[in-house]
Amino acid sequence: MSSPSASTTAAPSALSIRGIRKRYGALEALRGVSFDIQRGEFFALLGPNGAGKSTLISIIAGLVQASEGSVAVLGHDTVRDYRAARRLLGVVPQELVFDPFFKVRDMLRIQAGYYGCGKEVWPWIDEMLERLDLTAKAGSSMRALSGGMKRRVLIAQALVHKPPVVILDEPTAGVDVELRRMTWAFMSDLHRQGTTVVLTTHYLEEAQELCSRIAILDRGSVAVIEPTRQLLARHPYRFLRIKLAGAAQLPEALRPLITGESDGTLELKLETSRNPIGGVFDALRTAGIAIEDVHTREPDLEDIFIELTGHPAKAGGATAGAAK
Ligand SMILES: Nc1ncnc2c1ncn2[C@@H]1O[C@H](COP(=O)(O)OP(=O)(O)OP(=O)(O)O)[C@@H](O)[C@H]1O
Ligand SMILES: [Mg+2]
Repeated sequence: MSSPSASTTAAPSALSIRGIRKRYGALEALRGVSFDIQRGEFFALLGPNGAGKSTLISIIAGLVQASEGSVAVLGHDTVRDYRAARRLLGVVPQELVFDPFFKVRDMLRIQAGYYGCGKEVWPWIDEMLERLDLTAKAGSSMRALSGGMKRRVLIAQALVHKPPVVILDEPTAGVDVELRRMTWAFMSDLHRQGTTVVLTTHYLEEAQELCSRIAILDRGSVAVIEPTRQLLARHPYRFLRIKLAGAAQLPEALRPLITGESDGTLELKLETSRNPIGGVFDALRTAGIAIEDVHTREPDLEDIFIELTGHPAKAGGATAGAAK
């Protein structure tokens, strides 16, 4: 009779997170988190150690119960409609949990069976082993793998049923540079084919390169959620790296701008509106100080992360430890 309203015809978000709170006793790990991730996004969930990223992912995966709020995967509530929601999701957990006696390929085939998939996905399993450089280990038992190999098996395990939404919690912790690139090339291909990809990482350059939108979680709340380009452009400052000739000291007036020093090169943070670069050179010339070397650097995600949270992204190293 009447045409359906826009809200009922609009395609559901890949993930819809509504008012999620999680209390562990007196600790409030999540303090009311709400946001949507659209289909086809490549999204980064960032935050310092203990921010609540893994707790949120466990709630999305239906492994941990929220104290308040709800999550839907492509319109399916993760509690009321658990089986449908779970079928649409692939989750790579941060912790390396698996049966040590299973062989890699067998374990992936068994995992596919849990999702009701049969032999039709075996070629896909072999393709994933190839893409993740695990073909030579297909017949090895899980306990015989290194930490980085186990983590890549977990990635394959999350993808056996070809889910449209994939969430990876630190998938590259403990994985060396070349294999990290290989893993991300694989994820980028899946994304190009339409998969929604959500990741957490402490390597901010990965998030900056891969993800079109970023949320930064800090102490259980969303501190910022923005397109990556906008987040990087919003910060009107840059860094000036300068090496002074001889044993010269920076004039007193410029010293508050120093943010770092290594091997005699000073790094100054210059706010575009307040500290034009020309002003720095004028001050040095007036003081009779010569410059040996100079260059500028635009702020990257690491700088913005520190500015927003007060912590460097790799603080504590707890996540690197978890990969061992
Ligand atoms: N099962 C649990 N029982 C009690 N407290 C928990 C539990 N799981 C997590 N927490 C606490 O909740 C907070 C958020 O932890 P969570 O693991 O979600 O952080 P994270 O952002 O994933 O950190 P990391 O970057 O180190 O992985 C921390 O203070 C943590 O100690
Ligand atoms: Mg975590």
